[in-house]
Amino acid sequence: MNHPSMAGLQISAPSYVKNARLLAWVAEIAALTQPDQIHWCDGSQEEYDALCQRLVAAGTFKPLNPAKRPGSFLACSDPSDVARVEDRTFICSDKKEDAGPTNNWTAPAEMRVLLQTGDNALFKGAMRGRTMYVVPFSMGPLGSPIAHIGIELSDSPYVAVNMRIMTRMGKAVYDVLGVDGQFVPCVHTVGAPLEAGQKDVTWPCNKTKYIVHYPATREIWSYGSGYGGNALLGKKCFALRIASNMGRDQGWLAEHMLILGVTSPEGKKSHVAAAFPSACGKTNFAMLIPPAALGDWKVTTIGDDIAWIKPVDGQLRAINPEAGYFGVAPGTNFKTNPNCMASLHKDVIFTNVALTDDGDVWWEGMTDELPSHLIDWQGKDWTPETAKGADGKLRPAAHPNARFTVAATNNPALDPEWDNPAGVAIDAFIFGGRRSTTVPLATEARSWVEGVYMAATMGSETTAAAAGQMGVVRRDPFAMLPFTGYNMSDYFQHWLNMGAKLQAEGARLPAIYCVNWFRKGADGKFVWPGYGDNARVMQWMLGRIEGKAGGAENIFGVSPTYGDLNWAGLDFSQAQFDSVIGIDHAAWQQELKLHDELFTQLAYHLPAELVATKQALEQRLAA
Ligand code: GTP
Ligand code: SPV
Ligand code: MN
Repeated sequence: MNHPSMAGLQISAPSYVKNARLLAWVAEIAALTQPDQIHWCDGSQEEYDALCQRLVAAGTFKPLNPAKRPGSFLACSDPSDVARVEDRTFICSDKKEDAGPTNNWTAPAEMRVLLQTGDNALFKGAMRGRTMYVVPFSMGPLGSPIAHIGIELSDSPYVAVNMRIMTRMGKAVYDVLGVDGQFVPCVHTVGAPLEAGQKDVTWPCNKTKYIVHYPATREIWSYGSGYGGNALLGKKCFALRIASNMGRDQGWLAEHMLILGVTSPEGKKSHVAAAFPSACGKTNFAMLIPPAALGDWKVTTIGDDIAWIKPVDGQLRAINPEAGYFGVAPGTNFKTNPNCMASLHKDVIFTNVALTDDGDVWWEGMTDELPSHLIDWQGKDWTPETAKGADGKLRPAAHPNARFTVAATNNPALDPEWDNPAGVAIDAFIFGGRRSTTVPLATEARSWVEGVYMAATMGSETTAAAAGQMGVVRRDPFAMLPFTGYNMSDYFQHWLNMGAKLQAEGARLPAIYCVNWFRKGADGKFVWPGYGDNARVMQWMLGRIEGKAGGAENIFGVSPTYGDLNWAGLDFSQAQFDSVIGIDHAAWQQELKLHDELFTQLAYHLPAELVATKQALEQRLAA
């Protein structure tokens, strides 16, 4: 085959790569970024092992003790590159209104000059001295009608090995792609070209960062970061920001949701999708083990972060487009999430956790007892004594946004349907933020529109998953604030339209719930035990759907009373319950002011039904 060659570099595609657009694009990006070599990933185990060895040789990976953590590695990032960078994330739609007030926007032509065509365009020569990996991946089961293909060109071998765990990555993608199939082009560079003879660092990255999306042409360009959602472009960039655009155009939903199966003691299986903001409990909820005292309930995981949801024959059917988990390590332990700990016993890439003296990993909250000595995520010695700051607080040994990358197939609670291209029918949606006050433990929406209102106005305290200040309450509509790839009000309208369309077809819509596991008491501690005990709330929800469980109406929706929850095996008093379920009218008056602010910000295209829902809520509050 006669492949185009640019700047002296043959792209030398393997013979099984036959897609004309892909070949031309790889040549074009190689000419722009000028890598030394091109590596076409085939996704094999041999390739994965060789890349890991390469990362070990480069000092990026430390192999962990094979007796403790077989097949596993620790990577520690540059201290400046530890989380998603929302202020450097851009939606470059043709018109600013289409990105909306919650996204950063730059005109596509202007952004292309900055990244590609200008004299000092960032991608020009950005891969010099490095290998460009061609990473073919499928979001969703390979060849399934609901799956979509992406190709990531990246100069980071760390990205290549993570993508093999997080997606269906490898040469089988080219069979599906064929000669003229469609793919989402994803270009990624760490932005750290190497001049001849220059020694590499263990975590190359650039102070300047751009995470750029062009919705019209479905393209992703990422510059300067090697971390998580900034660099593993199948995840937030493709499966949420670009896919939300696809979903709006094609009549489906791309959501920041876990998906789980829950089987009752009677053997009835239901499916729940839940949207919680980053680092607010999706992985934990997706893997939860219900308390034995509740009876023989079983929860199985379909996905822990992203759901693609399509209407099929009057049902909303959901798939998990990913194949692995890029989960938060701190706080995870055998008590709070035993399934997660079991998933991490082998073949894991850890990023920014601490290293123990016996070659294993540790993070805050993993054990009650602190290890006597660690190497922290920045490579420094750490002991409980020397890590104590002037304020008496311990400097964390693992970064608060430290993560693990692991295949879904490691999860002992993996749902048998997790890989089913037809997905599972969703019975309930749950939306939940991290709120120390105001928002009750659980509330059922009385209608689809009221549920959309709850999701749209959801607030949450910011976490370490994104760079910036932690712990400040911000509105995070649908847990999608950083991930909706178009105008947020249009996204609300899309949800309303989906519901109206299904209802017109005579479908029974999923019930919608709002939850908050995070109310705190006067002592500053969480009142609700959370984790496995969240199953009690889920049992109530499923009971509601079947018409078996009680509840009481309040201004916000329908919440359980003390007697409506199953308390078997838990000592939780009526007074404690009141403190997590109560609606404080003064606090809600303040809360509604924040809804007002959001609606003012989102006034352009804001659905009238949501304004009406707010007015009804205000009237109930005033009454
Ligand atoms: P992303 O991967 O960033 O999208 O986050 P996630 O929603 O999957 O977050 P994850 O499940 O990893 O939760 C992270 C944090 O939430 C950890 O600090 C957990 O300890 C805490 N957490 C999870 N569930 C609960 C709960 O029920 N109660 C309390 N109090 N904390 C919880
Ligand atoms: C999140 O921040 O919501 C994550 C981690 O799931 S990242 O992949 O970095 O986006
Ligand atoms: Mn997430």
